Parts: sequence; C-alpha cells; structure tokens
Amino acid sequence: MASTLPYDVQSIRSEFPILQRKVKGKSLVYFDNAATAQKPKQVIDAITHYYSHYNANIHRGLHTLADEATAAFEASRAAVQAFIGAKQHEEIIFTKGTTESINLVSNAWGNVFLEAGDEIIISSLEHHANIVPWQMIAERKGAVIRVIPIDADGRLDMEAYKKMLSSKTKMVSVVHASNALGVINPIEQIIQLAHQHGALALVDGAQSAVHLDIDVQSLDCDFFVFSGHKTYGPTGVGILYGKRHILESMQPYQGGGEMIKEVSFEKSTYNELPFKFEAGTPNIADVIALQFGIDFISRIGKAAIRQHEAELLAYASSKLRLVEGLKIRGDVEEKVSVVSFTIEGVHPQDLAILLDNQGIAVRTGHHCAQPLMNCLGVVGTTRASFAAYNTIEEIDILIEALNKSLKMLK
Ligand code: ALA
Repeated sequence: MASTLPYDVQSIRSEFPILQRKVKGKSLVYFDNAATAQKPKQVIDAITHYYSHYNANIHRGLHTLADEATAAFEASRAAVQAFIGAKQHEEIIFTKGTTESINLVSNAWGNVFLEAGDEIIISSLEHHANIVPWQMIAERKGAVIRVIPIDADGRLDMEAYKKMLSSKTKMVSVVHASNALGVINPIEQIIQLAHQHGALALVDGAQSAVHLDIDVQSLDCDFFVFSGHKTYGPTGVGILYGKRHILESMQPYQGGGEMIKEVSFEKSTYNELPFKFEAGTPNIADVIALQFGIDFISRIGKAAIRQHEAELLAYASSKLRLVEGLKIRGDVEEKVSVVSFTIEGVHPQDLAILLDNQGIAVRTGHHCAQPLMNCLGVVGTTRASFAAYNTIEEIDILIEALNKSLKMLK
C-alpha cells in the first residue's frame, strides 16, 4: 500500500534504540504500545544525564546539585501542566502510575466525602485499576458501585448511565479510551451529566493522553489520571490532575517527609499543593525524563501522530477482517489505535507465542479487564496497539505471520 503517512517514520524510528533489536532472529515488530510505549533516546539520555551530572534530592538541599535537580523536576511538572491544559502547576501531582493516582483519589477523597449509601459509577470498560480501588473504599464506607453497561461492540449505554445518576451519585470514574478495545467514550457528556447531578468526575486517561488532545479545563473533569510510560516517558511515573479546590479539601494520601509543614509528636500540619500529596523522595530521575517524552510528542505533533496511527489502524483492521473466523472486538468508529480480536477455535495465548517466535510483540489475555471480557463472553483477546513509530510494512509482517500461525494452529 502506498503510504500517505504525515512524517518520515524511518527518521522517527531511528530515535528509538530498541527498534533496532532482533527477537528470535527477526526484526522486532512492537505492537504492545498500549501496555507501554518504547522510549526515544532523549528520554534514556535524560536519565543517564541526571545520574551522571546532578543526582540530588529535591526541594530541600541548598547546594547546586539540589537546585538543578529541583529545577528539572519542576520543569517536568510545567510540561505536564501544558500537555493537559491545567490552570495551575499545583494541580499536577506526581505518583508512580495511573493505578496509584486512582488509589490516591479513592482514599484521600473517598475517606472524607463518601458515606454509607453513596454511589460510585464506573463502566464495563474499566481496567482493574479503576474498579478495585473503588471497591475497596466502597466496602469501607458502605458505598455502592454501579456499572454502566455496554453493547456488543463496546459502546457505553448512555441511556442506562442517565438512569443510574441520582442525588446518591458522588463520583463517576470512567475510562476515556478502553485499553482492551480502544473504544473512545463520550467523555465530555459523561462529565457534564455527572456534574448536573452534583457528582465529581474522574477520567482515566491512561490510554487517551498519548493519542488525544487533552484540555482538562475544557473537559471540566475534576480529576484526570495517566501514566508517563505510555506517553514515551519512563515507567514509575504517574500523573494526577485535580481541580485545586478539590485537592485542597482532601486528606493527604501518605504521611512522611515533604508533605508536611510542621511536625511535633502531638500533631502535624500539612504542606501546600502539590507537595501535600507527594510524601517522601519521589522518582526524581524518571519524572525529569518524562518531559522529554512529552517533548517528543509535541515535536511531531499529536495531530500528525493521530493521523499516522489512524492510517495504521484502518489498514490493520481491513486486513484482519479478511482472516477467516476473526472478529474484531470493539469495531467502532471512535477508537484510539488499538485493534483487539478473537479467532474462532484459537486460544489467544497460543497465537501470541507463535507471533513472538516471528519477532512480533502483541498483548493477549484479559488486559486487566476481566469484567469486560465476561461482558463480551470471551476468555481474552489478542491486541495489537500502534504508536508513532510503527509502519504499514510492520502490519504486513503481522498479517503474514498471523496467517502462517493459523495454519499451524487449525
Ligand atoms: N494497562 C496496560 C495494558 O493495557 C498494562 O496493557
């Protein structure tokens, strides 16, 4: 197929050292980007540079290295603020991942504001990270979890959602784009409806932040959470955005250094935002490197990356539809670049092993979304997810490898 890709993919690929490697004697085809994206050299170099030149603890030292480390750490906060359109840098809290960001909210907000009989709404598309923390706090507080159903293609049943909302609803915590299917939810409408009923809205942006334009002020969400490692940054860094007045009304999540103003054996007072939620020494090196992942996205432009990924998704989907017995799960218009499928008579794990033997990395299984798999009536799916550096040629390699594997399996 003649490519109409909006930038020079080969030049982008040369920025990612890992893409040069061989797996089982073949050139790596990395289609597990929804699990974690690969890192450009500038991210890897930023980590080495920090440890080689200015490794120091932040916000406390009065020496040159501490000043440099603090400035670089806070520059990452400013980069994240701009990336998602937050009004103030104090609204950006660093955590260790999307999971920790949701646990922070469910505890620090839920402990203060949830009461017995209150309701929390999630959806059938949620990752376990946006189910289990709510179950844990609901159990402690006697709150109730309600789940928005989906149709067979993974679209949310918005009529059911509207009926679920009431004065008992205190939190609506919904994924922006499904990690397992790629389906994009009508998040603006979900947030508006939550607010009309006096509830807060948390958006799980783990899969959307890298692909879609995010402006938390126009979304008007109360919380937005995502992970650095899916946005070409390092693992171990998560982001919690929260509206300032809501973060201020919440209890601290963890106690320790940095999150306090004054401590005595009798009582402690807490620090200002964002430090109130950043107890202990944070993941300094990886937070610093995150701004280089964001910079990579900004340099190419999200619109160009989206156009590229949409072309990859359309091409892959059209080729996969030709495979006998294959069904794309979540085959809807509004998707991020994820294609998830099942094949009659083929276990996804067997397929993954055969694909790996041909150098192709995909994810298989329940994708940390067991309840969703139950709704779809499948044990799991095979998922290929595309990033800025993937190519049409790699999709051809996948399709050829898939057909070869199916001959062995059937
Ligand atoms: N949540 C990640 C995924 O979807 C790990 O693969």
